[in-house]
Amino acid sequence: MSDKPQFASRIGLIAATVGSAVGLGNVWRFPAEAQAGGGAAFLFIYILCVLLLGVPVMVGEFALGRSGGSDAIGSFVNLGARRPWWGVGALAILASYMILCFYMVVAGWTIEYLWESVTGALYAAVPDGNESMMFARRMETYIGSAWHPLVFTAIVIVINICVLLGGVQKGIERLSNLLMPLLFLILIVFACVALSLPGAAEGLRFFLSPDFSKLTPGVVISALGQAFFSLSLGMGILITYASYFPRTTRLTRTAVTVSMLDMLVAVMMGVIIFPAVTTYGLTGESLRGATLVFVTLPEVFARMPGGTFWSALFFLLLSLAAITSTISIAEVTIAFLQDRFRMSRRKAVSATLLPLFIFSSICSLSQGPLNHITIAGFNIFDFLDNVATNIMLPLGALLLCIYMGWFAPRGLLQDQMSCGGMYDFGKVNRTVAFIIRYIAPPLIAIVLISYFI
Ligand code: ALA
Repeated sequence: MSDKPQFASRIGLIAATVGSAVGLGNVWRFPAEAQAGGGAAFLFIYILCVLLLGVPVMVGEFALGRSGGSDAIGSFVNLGARRPWWGVGALAILASYMILCFYMVVAGWTIEYLWESVTGALYAAVPDGNESMMFARRMETYIGSAWHPLVFTAIVIVINICVLLGGVQKGIERLSNLLMPLLFLILIVFACVALSLPGAAEGLRFFLSPDFSKLTPGVVISALGQAFFSLSLGMGILITYASYFPRTTRLTRTAVTVSMLDMLVAVMMGVIIFPAVTTYGLTGESLRGATLVFVTLPEVFARMPGGTFWSALFFLLLSLAAITSTISIAEVTIAFLQDRFRMSRRKAVSATLLPLFIFSSICSLSQGPLNHITIAGFNIFDFLDNVATNIMLPLGALLLCIYMGWFAPRGLLQDQMSCGGMYDFGKVNRTVAFIIRYIAPPLIAIVLISYFI
């Protein structure tokens, strides 16, 4: 175990874990889901999911990863888990790889939008008063084109290869230490700008005053899926990262810090986006699901003074968030290949990322030339997103809680949470352990079952 890499500092460990959590989930997925789920009603359930389930499941994953000291499968094996349990790790690795396939594509879109903002091409030919159609059509043409998005997806994969070849400390930790402060700085600038807009109050009302008539089982399912996606739960990331934690890292404290910062970013995105769209009169139809940040926001920027600058800054933010998350998702498979098959770092990075040139290309093309291929009524891209996010992540988290709560070696959770008795196993830790054992499994199971009804 002595050759096992470790994060070099507590700040680096937090930056890397927050870097994994904060991603397209917060910036791209959250505002769209919140919009579809009635704004504040969705926000309320989302916050409950993070506090009640997200933090405990995260502690469970940390405890498993640090005590098992290996990848998502190896950690179960090292703890002597009987055969079916390592399947939970396999499920997580599979889910993470499926997510990576479409995540690379969206990360590619952000880099393209960043590039086009910097060059000014995105706003070069905007017909006055017709921004809405123009950006919708542009997005449609762009993602539907055969090769253009593939180039930018390939760029993201190459960036990932370069960072991940550097390993845990020199690659993941160093990059996160650099990018995370920058990301928060950009967010603060945007929040100040958005709150000074004339439509800020109206936008905030939509986002912050709940209308519980909008609350349906569907909203609860997507809020839970969103919370798990955003906190990187059930993907094996936190098990893998925790295997790089020193023995003295306090797991509950780390989970609370990471979850709060992740939630803060999501809430700040709402605070930025909803005032902006109401100020520029873009309500109702113009808030279009997953294309929100690629269609509606460019419309906002086109109408704002200094719009090109703000657009470049925004897509820089989105690109930074996407890159730090893609490296963490890819690390799951890389660690698995290194630990299970004794591959060198270089080989494991290549074996993980090179096939993505093909898989992500198929995902990308499923938005255009291949969109006639459907599985269960979804194109390939949406199928992977729906199955991984709404089924595999909660299922993985549910099984992990059952394992940690009922089947893991006796006292393991307590030992990990108190860092081997170095700290008190106080009230908060007891509550977290209680939730992992008794509350999380039935709650997650109910939400999961209701997905199929
Ligand atoms: N947690 C990552 C995100 O939110 C996957 O994008």
